[in-house]
Amino acid sequence: MAGSARQYHITTFGCQMNKADSERMAGILDTMGLTWTDDPFNADVVLYNTCTIRDNAEQKVYSYLGRQARRKHDNPDLTLIVAGCVAQQEGEALLRRVPELDLVMGPQHANRLQDLLEQVFDGNQVVATEEVDIMEDITKPRRDSTITAWVNVIYGCNERCTYCVVPGVRGVEQSRSPEAIRTEMEELGRQGFKEVTLLGQNIDAYGRDLPGSTADGRHQHTFTDLLYFVHDVPGIERLRFATSHPRYFTERLVRACAELPKVCEHFHIPFQSGDNDVLKAMARGYTHERYRRIIDTVRRYMPDAAISADAIVGFPGETEEQFQRTMELVSDIAFDQLNTAAYSPRPGTPAALWENQLSEEVKADRLQRLNHLVNTKAAERSQRYAGRIEEVLVEAANPKDPTQVMGRTRGNRLAFFAGDFAALKGELVQVKITEVRPFSLTGEPIQALVAAS
Ligand code: SAH
Ligand code: SF4
Ligand code: F3S
Repeated sequence: MAGSARQYHITTFGCQMNKADSERMAGILDTMGLTWTDDPFNADVVLYNTCTIRDNAEQKVYSYLGRQARRKHDNPDLTLIVAGCVAQQEGEALLRRVPELDLVMGPQHANRLQDLLEQVFDGNQVVATEEVDIMEDITKPRRDSTITAWVNVIYGCNERCTYCVVPGVRGVEQSRSPEAIRTEMEELGRQGFKEVTLLGQNIDAYGRDLPGSTADGRHQHTFTDLLYFVHDVPGIERLRFATSHPRYFTERLVRACAELPKVCEHFHIPFQSGDNDVLKAMARGYTHERYRRIIDTVRRYMPDAAISADAIVGFPGETEEQFQRTMELVSDIAFDQLNTAAYSPRPGTPAALWENQLSEEVKADRLQRLNHLVNTKAAERSQRYAGRIEEVLVEAANPKDPTQVMGRTRGNRLAFFAGDFAALKGELVQVKITEVRPFSLTGEPIQALVAAS
């Protein structure tokens, strides 16, 4: 490791959890004296933080790894790391597939990166995939944004949805203490961050595993309690959270969101399917009627709340009629945004072994029809913003037009307006919406803007 500082690069696949893990791992590498480079094919330490939620997510990483493995033959000092969910799922099998790898580490080991890398620099090939108690994070993450930040509140997932790899790769639920979460948020407030998104795969499970829970499963540390506990952190102007699970969603949470001014009017509540038999086969633990009641409750307290969700088409055995139930739900609820996916059989999950798998053609066709409906509905939903005044938190210059800035409304719609990013960075601006598109808005600022003082 002689000479100038070694350079590292991290490529991140997958969900917000992985992005948050990458920011913490980058923070650790910074502390170790390495420096960031944007170019993965020029870095001395290359880390792929991987996702295995669907097969195409997993395959992506193998093509990158092949290229890096070849580079290593000319450059033996290159350190190659696979972190995240593929690492956890494949473990030692990854070393057999790509013997050039130095380190394979599951998501629960993200905070241990320094320790693991030191073993690598001592000449070892290391696999860290055993289930562990996640270390409380003492590093300073290297965050992508200086305005919005992710804060983990609960790791892992105790659900057993029959299609899903997450419980297998992220392990059992581990909640952080309310104090640790608040401390991290206070630090963010001091650093000038304006918005925090609290993260958990099933955020409604927050606190179940913390001491103070009672034997009957009731507990004092619910996610709603956590919101009350952290909502007044100085400097943080907006709070978001994801992901809500319909099985555990409570009216008390909606009431808290309506009551706490910093909590944004946006709920991400995946429903996966609109058909009760499919939901049952998925082991989701609710019916479409319950899901609809949840949305009614949200809209009763917050008529204008934005609602987004995830859905899967082509689950094993799904009939055309059952698929139509999903279309009906999407049509009735009119989501602001919907992440859709064709079912992908995943190793180690029950549904992958069932014999009633659908053909790729059927899945692709349903996905296309659903996406078409989603776009139509989102466009209709967007109309309600026309002419309205929306609060936008300025996060960046519009990469396509530097005379404009961009940010998000409280309802999580991307919005653009004319302005100078240097002057407006991190500001909450009232914007009159003049143009609506299905997933984004354009407007004019209505405040007398911070003059060039
Ligand atoms: N914890 C969240 C979802 C995490 S995974 C929840 O319970 O809703 C993100 C999304 O990926 C899921 O909501 C689901 O829609 C999708 N997904 C998960 N496994 C999948 C699979 N095997 N095939 C297709 N989509 C899948
Ligand atoms: Fe996967 Fe279900 Fe857990 Fe979500 S709740 S992460 S879909 S097992
Ligand atoms: Fe992917 Fe792992 Fe997230 S499988 S979606 S990165 S929890």
